[in-house]
Amino acid sequence: MAKRKTIFVCQSCGANSNQWAGRCEKCGQWNTIVEELSNSGVGAGPKSATASGRAAPLSSLSGKAQDAARSTCNIAELDRVTGGGFVKGSAMLVGGDPGIGKSTLLLQAAASMANKGHNVIYISGEEAIAQVQLRAQRLGLANAPVKLASETNVETILATLENENAPDLVIIDSIQTLWTDRVDSSPGTVTQVRTSAQALTRFAKKSGAAVVLVGHVTKDGQIAGPRVVEHMVDAVMYFEGDSSHRFRILRGVKNRYGATDEIGVFEMSQMGLKEVANPSALFLDQRDEGSAGSAVFAGIEGTRPVLVEIQALVSPSPLGTPRRAVVGWDNSRLSMILAVLETRCGVKIGANDIYLNVAGGLKISEPAADLAVAAALISSATNSALPSKAVFFGEISLSGGIRPVAHAPLRLKEASKLGFDSAFTGRIGSSEKTSEIKLTEFSDLSTLVSEIAADIQQ
Ligand code: TYD
Ligand code: MG
Repeated sequence: MAKRKTIFVCQSCGANSNQWAGRCEKCGQWNTIVEELSNSGVGAGPKSATASGRAAPLSSLSGKAQDAARSTCNIAELDRVTGGGFVKGSAMLVGGDPGIGKSTLLLQAAASMANKGHNVIYISGEEAIAQVQLRAQRLGLANAPVKLASETNVETILATLENENAPDLVIIDSIQTLWTDRVDSSPGTVTQVRTSAQALTRFAKKSGAAVVLVGHVTKDGQIAGPRVVEHMVDAVMYFEGDSSHRFRILRGVKNRYGATDEIGVFEMSQMGLKEVANPSALFLDQRDEGSAGSAVFAGIEGTRPVLVEIQALVSPSPLGTPRRAVVGWDNSRLSMILAVLETRCGVKIGANDIYLNVAGGLKISEPAADLAVAAALISSATNSALPSKAVFFGEISLSGGIRPVAHAPLRLKEASKLGFDSAFTGRIGSSEKTSEIKLTEFSDLSTLVSEIAADIQQ
């Protein structure tokens, strides 16, 4: 019998090492290294595997291309993120903080699919059957023909699924609770999560069912799993949002069958998650019109324009190193904008504490938000409100120039639809202009600054 050797695996990033350490060298996390047996897990393969292989048939690229077979679940915001419905024979990971609403969303999706006549199986490893039933009753979904089980052993789950007549959709909630007899590590470790996810992904490919794996990720990435599962599955989406906000955003980060930059917006209510078809109206709902430090950014999320309020607060700092706090945007991008404002436009605000917040819990990654951030900062620093019916978009370059950004017409159309009457932006082509909205174009940031902040010019 082969000698059993132990290895030490980081539960955060999956890195292996030969000895235990308090801190993982790869990802820098503390106390994440756990001892596991090396002849178990993925590298070792299933115990039943034999050494002799069988030649696989090879084919060419020019085969008959077929569109992936999909089934929509009638929850439009979810269908948008999956790229038009669950794909048969694919595995999908839905990650997110505990309590954000993953189980709720997937139960709603399961019920909707089952009501359409699909064979749907929901396996809960976290909750007892009675708990899931209670939730279904609260959501008014108790009559949907979803088949329910509460199980955590992968072999039992696979046997249950094989026993079922061709399931269309299988939901596993959650991947962290699963364990398989094939590996010796304790449940919840990276090896267990990885091996279980692999077995279920294989089941998806073999049976043609769409398998959805739920995974918890904490903010500091302490819980093992989902990150190492990401590369195994066909699609990864993250359910984001602040539990103190009503909004939840489902964001596609990987999708082998569709675009990845789409978001789905939901609102958590008494009756579960409600779709938000017009997110801009929701994000601007409680805007303080006419207050200093607030600018509306006309952004694009995937194929959809989204207007969102950017709030800035510039306040004198008692500290030697002023504080910078950013919620919903990139910290280093803020430093860049501040540097450009100081160096190119003579706006001296760097010695102040600066707080920046994207209202509604949305996270923005578009560089087009630069101009709205700069406008909000200048507005707060001068304590004068920006025009309340104006939107801002444009990318700021290090030279202080404002670069045009893509999809200007879509942004302008959305702004005009929501009652905005002017837009501040970089130069845009004449073919992209719309007559509904007054455009003020700038080629450099200092012109914008001198328009709205004459009194802090040095
Ligand atoms: P849940 O789906 O259990 O989260 P996850 O599976 O991601 O851990 O959602 C739990 C939260 O959602 C909980 O705090 C209560 C809230 N909730 C509602 O506000 N309304 C509802 O109808 C339901 C079912 C849950
Ligand atoms: Mg849950």
